[in-house]
Amino acid sequence: MNPGLNLRQSMNDYAGTDPLRRAVGDVIGALAHASVEISDLTGNGALAGITLAGITGQAQGRNADGDIQKDLDVRADRIIRAALEPLPIAALASEEAAEPEIGYPAAPISVAIDPLDGSSNIDTNMSVGTIFSILPTPRDIRATFLQPGDAQLAAGFFVYGPQTSLVLTLGRGVDIFTLDRGENAFKLIRPAVLIPPDTAEFAINASNQRHWEPPVQAFIEDCLAGTSGERGKDFNMRWIGSLVAEAHRILTRGGIFLYPADAREGYRDGRLRLVYEANPMAFIMEQAGGAASTGRQRILDLTPATLHQRVPLIMGSRNKVRRLDRLHMSPEIKSEPYPPLFARRGLFRN
Ligand code: AHG
Ligand code: MN
Ligand code: MN
Repeated sequence: MNPGLNLRQSMNDYAGTDPLRRAVGDVIGALAHASVEISDLTGNGALAGITLAGITGQAQGRNADGDIQKDLDVRADRIIRAALEPLPIAALASEEAAEPEIGYPAAPISVAIDPLDGSSNIDTNMSVGTIFSILPTPRDIRATFLQPGDAQLAAGFFVYGPQTSLVLTLGRGVDIFTLDRGENAFKLIRPAVLIPPDTAEFAINASNQRHWEPPVQAFIEDCLAGTSGERGKDFNMRWIGSLVAEAHRILTRGGIFLYPADAREGYRDGRLRLVYEANPMAFIMEQAGGAASTGRQRILDLTPATLHQRVPLIMGSRNKVRRLDRLHMSPEIKSEPYPPLFARRGLFRN
């Protein structure tokens, strides 16, 4: 596809006369429409909103997963639901709702969203985003969000940063669009993105170092040893606290991102959620020639047990992800996965 192409045209070219592709394209168009409103809200920050209460990142409660819910988490969720409402979608799952919402059960596709990723950054004026995953609806609608990530038809994320950008995969590579505010349209700026297979940049929340398993300890120690260690080269570190911003950087210049399991209560399976964070990111990383793993398994092979299940996530330049996988398998670096907390079977309560 040639740069400058707008998203609407790109979706038409993709859909052609195929009804399933048309349904996928319509969802992406609706999400793009919602993203402009969310981008405006984040852009206006504390000035947004009717009562000037604005978007301050103030906590409003807790979501089903126990995470503190910020005002923009809730508003972004509402904006997206309103944008998708007219479309035939079988089920919609969100980080901000305990259970999926059933729409049109006979519809061929379903959607999982992280309406606002990186919400701890809202009041610090850092980039945040929206992550989405589009799945085929199985015969048993209750199993929609318990499918392996390999089942995804499309996935992507919006970044609300200096630019508002969309990173999108339809299963045939990764394209990056940027919002042209003058024309209120997303324009293709980087077709067929490829992640460099090697990197000298890692992203991890180093404050958790004492809680990591030995393979992650070993990998980061090697990076920190730089030219004086066995890697023989210096590394750079980044940690933004916003998965979409880290992913966008990796797609731009390579890198490896780690949110591993750690020994803290509630972090035995890491922090990120499989269905609406790790799976869409893993699909994008692999489609751009990168990789995504738990350290022991390929993310897209995993079968979710519950909607809000967490999973360790290591993603980015494929040679570095493979190195972490080898370290997790290495007999010299003894490490058993933390005993996962018992995962309830997650079926919808209709
Ligand atoms: P969310 O705001 O949707 O809960 O996602 C936040 C995630 C992810 O964006 C980021 O990489 C990670 O939380 C940061 O975690 P720490 O604050 O523990 O570093
Ligand atoms: Mn998130
Ligand atoms: Mn979120």
